Amino acid sequence: MRNTSKKHLDNYTFNRQYSTCKPNITTEILNGLLSVPKHLSPKFFYDQKGSELFEKITNQPEYYVTRKEISILQTNCNDIANTITKTPQHNISLLELGSGNSTKVQILLETLRPNTYIPIDISETFLKENTLKLTDAFPWLNIHAISADYCHALPSLPPNLGKKVAFFPGSSIGNFEPAATLSFLKNIAKWIEPTGGLLIGVDLIKSQETLNLAYNDLDGVTAAFNLNILCHINRLTQAGFKPHQFKHKAFFNNAASRIEMHLESTIEQSSVINNQTITFKAGESIHTENSYKYSIDSFSHLAKQAGLKPVKVWTDSENWFSVHYLESI
Ligand SMILES: C[S@@+](CC[C@H](N)C(=O)[O-])C[C@H]1O[C@@H](n2cnc3c(N)ncnc32)[C@H](O)[C@@H]1O
Repeated sequence: MRNTSKKHLDNYTFNRQYSTCKPNITTEILNGLLSVPKHLSPKFFYDQKGSELFEKITNQPEYYVTRKEISILQTNCNDIANTITKTPQHNISLLELGSGNSTKVQILLETLRPNTYIPIDISETFLKENTLKLTDAFPWLNIHAISADYCHALPSLPPNLGKKVAFFPGSSIGNFEPAATLSFLKNIAKWIEPTGGLLIGVDLIKSQETLNLAYNDLDGVTAAFNLNILCHINRLTQAGFKPHQFKHKAFFNNAASRIEMHLESTIEQSSVINNQTITFKAGESIHTENSYKYSIDSFSHLAKQAGLKPVKVWTDSENWFSVHYLESI
């Protein structure tokens, strides 16, 4: 593993496996914006400002997702650690996909006691800021932060990691389309071979009112987060989008069992990327995110199809959120 930047700390390394300069990022953005309907990958929410706005979302009273998942992890951290370490294993590495501010993993570190923590995130500065903070709190832990795009490929890992346990919280699995979910889970199953596990947070189907409120908080933080994608796209492609000419829309699509987020153009307008013009009619939107909601059974079924064995599921008292532990078969 090559260090591209290193603080003078014995237990911290940083590795970059993602570059925002690649021409294929512009191609990916253009392909989405020239499609009908227009769409952008939710991974483009996360520049530094987007990561900070997401952290603010997690503190909104309407956004139950983080609160519920944290309560499940806190209540069950001993049982989760025992379930993961059921087969005696001295060397555990915890690989967190989309680690963000690394808040949730800290609940698990003391009970699980992995040798190594590998936080992986596309938002590089935010990743470094938050994982460097962990070095003081957990001096016994080796931390290898990796900036990577897990949609592109799961990052290459250093050798001799022992039992690899992937941690994928935040219900980010819900951002994948059903077919992509299956292939992503299959890739994780391969990545953690031969004796690994996956601890994954999965949001559950619940009342439409609760779901709609969670993505339309009264303070407008989710709206600001959604609109910020245009500022990020402007920086990556010089598109010149004017965020104030778009408005946030989020709603539960019952037939597809997903929250949809869109940015609706309030006027007729156009932008140019690489000499290609993207035109908008008034009312036309860019689809920026899907967040699929599952039942425990429907997610366990998908996991089995991907070659992962469901071992245990923990939920909160209202059954709003679930944390599944799956093992490679
Ligand atoms: C919904 S937030 C969840 C953050 C945190 N894990 C939590 O549960 O609160 C998604 C996180 O995944 C990261 N992310 C999104 N798409 C990604 C991708 N394709 N590759 C790597 N990281 C990604 C974001 O930067 C962000 O930190």
